[in-house]
Amino acid sequence: MDHPPLWYKDAVFYELSIKGFYDGNHDGYGDFVGAIQKLDYLRDLGVDTLWLLPFYQSPWRDDGYDISDYYQVHPTYGSLEDFDRFIQEAHRRDLRVVADLVMNHVSQDHPWFQEARADPQSPKRNWFVWSDTDQKYRGVRVIFVDTERSNWTWDPVAKQYFWHRFYSHQPDLNYDNPEVREEMFRVVQFWMKRGIDGFRCDAVPYLFEREGTSCENLPETHAFFKDLRARVEAEFPGRILLAEANQWPADVKAYFGNEDEFHMAFNFPLMPRIFIAIAREVHHPITDIVMQTLPIPATCAWGIFLRNHDELTLEMVTNEERDFMYHEYAKLPVMRLNLGIRRRLAPLVDDDRRLLELLHGLLFSLPGVPVLYYGDELGMGDNVFLGDRNGVRTPMQWSPDRNAGFSRVDPEMLYLPVITNPNFHYESRNVEAEVRLSSSLLRWIQRILAVRRRYARVFGRGEIEFLPHANPSALIFLRRYEGQTVLCVFNLSRRSVALELSLPQFKEYTPLELRGNTRFPRIGELPYFFTLGEHEWFWFELLPPEPASTSPPPSSVPPSP
Ligand code: BGC
Repeated sequence: MDHPPLWYKDAVFYELSIKGFYDGNHDGYGDFVGAIQKLDYLRDLGVDTLWLLPFYQSPWRDDGYDISDYYQVHPTYGSLEDFDRFIQEAHRRDLRVVADLVMNHVSQDHPWFQEARADPQSPKRNWFVWSDTDQKYRGVRVIFVDTERSNWTWDPVAKQYFWHRFYSHQPDLNYDNPEVREEMFRVVQFWMKRGIDGFRCDAVPYLFEREGTSCENLPETHAFFKDLRARVEAEFPGRILLAEANQWPADVKAYFGNEDEFHMAFNFPLMPRIFIAIAREVHHPITDIVMQTLPIPATCAWGIFLRNHDELTLEMVTNEERDFMYHEYAKLPVMRLNLGIRRRLAPLVDDDRRLLELLHGLLFSLPGVPVLYYGDELGMGDNVFLGDRNGVRTPMQWSPDRNAGFSRVDPEMLYLPVITNPNFHYESRNVEAEVRLSSSLLRWIQRILAVRRRYARVFGRGEIEFLPHANPSALIFLRRYEGQTVLCVFNLSRRSVALELSLPQFKEYTPLELRGNTRFPRIGELPYFFTLGEHEWFWFELLPPEPASTSPPPSSVPPSP
């Protein structure tokens, strides 16, 4: 598949769990053969890049983020040939594929770790981080605070402690060892040769450890990724690296390097602040953080998201903000996990359709590449009683049939039960039903993605400028790219707002409302007056005055589908 320059900036990503998408061989688990059958759905939805959650061999104690063989597809998902066919079929539909890559740690079942622990003389011993005491690197935070007490675990076989930033069954690899670094390059090559268009690199801040530091974002880690980038660029130009670094703005931005490290990074700082802004009905949590996360180098892009397969993380907010988020969005203790909230998007906002549309309006027009999480386009529900993060990882809902059309097995054989909560029951919340209803969330997302696709350049690559105005509940900004300007206006509150917007530089311009393709009154001398209902929002292209007769009417823009 070709990779035009900066292709990722114009993309819309879709995070897809092979386990959860479609069961092609009737064993209760999704697989590559099943996912191939659903590629047309994804193309028709209007996304263009698929991010696959880890699909490698694994004991699944952390849902595949605990890899026991980097060179094998998990047999439940199919064979390497099935994987190859998936890539081919995706590419045939102009869908690119980015794979998760877990570099920081392996499963304790991985033969590397088994060899390492069994024999201090084993060549693999130094592939992991060992210590005779658990007192090294003191003060380094524990990430999975609900399960782990320390980043060290005593291994009775090795008779030493080993270092792990996540679960104690996930020993960290030792990146000070050049053999480990080389092995990871081999893994990257292996999958890129099979056609992967990029990697979402998991847990990037934690590769190296140094005494007296937080063991996060160390210079050595940046140097490793710069090296990886250079090698990828040399051998696989056009493929991308996307960083999962859940850090404060300055620390995440550092992963773009000097356009020589990651092409993309998830905008973790922005995500919780979108939820804070809508709950408080004020724009500044969003405007402040967007300003802090910009500028970034021209060839780099944020990946922006509302939800993903993990808990809605609240690690990088203040204590006060975290308390507020729990209070607003996690009323029951069971909804909380580690420092976060384990709920899907629709239940988080009480299935409020206006809010869901507002959130997607923001996701699709703030600077960055939008990343959707499978099922959220249907307004899928969750099940917070399933343990760990399983409640947001239940089977995709395709139809009102048995198992939501995901699989033909007996329901008790499913890897997780489907959602039957009456408010979100799969019998009505499924692809088949929502395709039939033109008012469904799915159809709405399809339509809005079609609009965004026409403006992919300005939203994906354009500058942002927040416009000052008097109402704290309104979020107003311009996106501009190569002479095109889109004005975005959001009412973040439950009350109607009336706004007077001063737009002197656009005098005589005509706002073209993008969703309805409707021309609004021309901007004149006086401030432009808007009223916005509860959670209402608009995108307008600002069309310059037409010179007397010559040029074609600006709505050469096709009408919305
Ligand atoms: C992934 C999690 C996973 C963790 C450990 C994360 O950042 O998104 O799902 O549990 O890495 O690999």
